[in-house]
Amino acid sequence: MGKIIFHALDGSCIEVESAGRSILDTALAAGVELDHACGGVCACATCHVIIEQGFDLLPLPSEEEEDQLEKAPGLAPTSRLACQTIPLHDTRLEVRIPRWNRNLAHE
Ligand code: FES
Repeated sequence: MGKIIFHALDGSCIEVESAGRSILDTALAAGVELDHACGGVCACATCHVIIEQGFDLLPLPSEEEEDQLEKAPGLAPTSRLACQTIPLHDTRLEVRIPRWNRNLAHE
């Protein structure tokens, strides 16, 4: 069974089983706040996360994910869209939710 350790916006850290779901679905099921303006259909990039451990173990992004990801602020070499990334069953990831998350930014 895979695990994901989330480093959340509020500085908290939570470890959950990933169970074959996307990083976004895993976060939401665990009560981790992660923006997802388009509902997880690869049309907004607000679910941008940075993979701090395990990036090389993830399936490659689709062309659609890469195109959306380019629009995300604060892009890093290990950035992914949480709604499009489904870890393999035995993968252990550490995921940081960026502070520059577009819809959560205060005006
Ligand atoms: S939720 Fe919109 S691209 Fe992931």
